[in-house]
Amino acid sequence: MARSFVMALAAVATLALVVPAHAQDGGANVWLKSACANCHGNLADGDGDPAYPPGPSLRKTKLDADLLRETISCGRPGTKMPFHLDGAYTKTSCYGVPVGAVPDQTAKGAQLTEQQIKTLVDFLVANVVGQARLNKKYCAAFNEGNQNAPECLQYPQ
Ligand code: HEC
Repeated sequence: MARSFVMALAAVATLALVVPAHAQDGGANVWLKSACANCHGNLADGDGDPAYPPGPSLRKTKLDADLLRETISCGRPGTKMPFHLDGAYTKTSCYGVPVGAVPDQTAKGAQLTEQQIKTLVDFLVANVVGQARLNKKYCAAFNEGNQNAPECLQYPQ
């Protein structure tokens, strides 16, 4: 009896820990946990890990918020850019094609909600797009706002 009570408490405590962390996902966290940096670089400047397919600098992209959302959600079939919306193609139409199977040669990335993708796009628009010249402020956006993070020391104010 006492033992199952303790186990029930433990289950509640676990839920309490998991739910708020998820709800608080900021754009930088979504970026990090979706592994965008592997291909696009830690600061989205195209300087990715050589072990992964190179992704272009998102600082130089010409895409507006709508096209960013669509590209991140649906990926780019036939390229290494994965789709990231949970249910893209199968439940939510992509690029105007009716819902159906995921097209061939379409990589699958982290599976995000529409809200997480919106948060990520807002973050990219505010801190990345059009900011080709890195500075401490834009670096800090990827480092919990800390301009003195070791990664940011090399950049000008
Ligand atoms: C496995 C490597 C890989 C991962 C992971 C990845 N990308 Fe990409 N991404 C690419 C490649 C390669 C392209 C270029 C596709 C092409 O040739 O059209 C691309 C293109 C893009 C573009 C279009 C840029 C433009 O100007 O046309 C955006 C936006 C983008 N990625 C955002 C993201 C975001 C955000 C994430 C994480 C949620 C992510 N990518 C994860 C490889 C990746």
